[in-house]
Amino acid sequence: MPRPNPLLRFFRQYEGPRIHKWIHYFEIYHRHFARFRDEPVTILEFGVNQGGSLRMWQHYFHDDSKIVGVDIDERCRQFEGGNVSIEIGDQEDREFLRMLAEKHGPFDVVIEDGGHQMGQQIASFEEIYPAMSEDGCFLIEDLHTSYWPGYGGGLLREGTFIEYAKRLSDQLNAWHSKQDDFVVDRFTETTRSMHFYDSVIVFERGAMTKPRARKRGYDSFNVNDGQGREPAG
Ligand SMILES: C[S@@+](CC[C@H](N)C(=O)[O-])C[C@H]1O[C@@H](n2cnc3c(N)ncnc32)[C@H](O)[C@@H]1O
Repeated sequence: MPRPNPLLRFFRQYEGPRIHKWIHYFEIYHRHFARFRDEPVTILEFGVNQGGSLRMWQHYFHDDSKIVGVDIDERCRQFEGGNVSIEIGDQEDREFLRMLAEKHGPFDVVIEDGGHQMGQQIASFEEIYPAMSEDGCFLIEDLHTSYWPGYGGGLLREGTFIEYAKRLSDQLNAWHSKQDDFVVDRFTETTRSMHFYDSVIVFERGAMTKPRARKRGYDSFNVNDGQGREPAG
């Protein structure tokens, strides 16, 4: 039995200003965001458009949460009110992004649904990811643009967000490197996991330390293991 998804239920009954989402995103949102619902959190969404998704986050997260919507379109200012703040600016402008982080951070949840150009996605990730809470969650969507020439995409093309994220998946494993040119960095130390889905990547943050391995139990291939036990079978 699939578990009930409050976001999908909300979307199916919704009749307010437009929300534009791929249907399979709802399962991904709820899988990663459910742990943030019980207490007030700070949410940042890039890409306000008609204001509908902000309504959905208002409905989904705790009433005392703070929701920040960012868009380049001045008309989006009209969606400010209640627990929603609107910032108008270009998500590729690093100065604007640093101002956002200083004014509204640290963010617990980030939904990146802005212009979907490679430079915008990478700048927003690089400036906002370090400005998140220690166990925050950064979700970036519509990554199919990494394969669309009109957005700077193409299979294995240098500079796409997908290629950028593949490199970060190496960085997640840098604890195990034997190479001087591949070392633990801030991303390695602050990222618990990365999740790749169709068109979406989710980064789960966490304070990480060098992984440890320990052995328990006896050696199945050595009869005289020093503890007087015979291996099973
Ligand atoms: C896909 S829509 C957002 C949809 C909305 N989140 C929803 O779910 O209904 C993308 C939005 O990104 C905005 N946008 C495009 N380029 C941008 C940029 N450089 N900086 C900030 N916002 C941008 C557009 O104005 C547009 O409103």
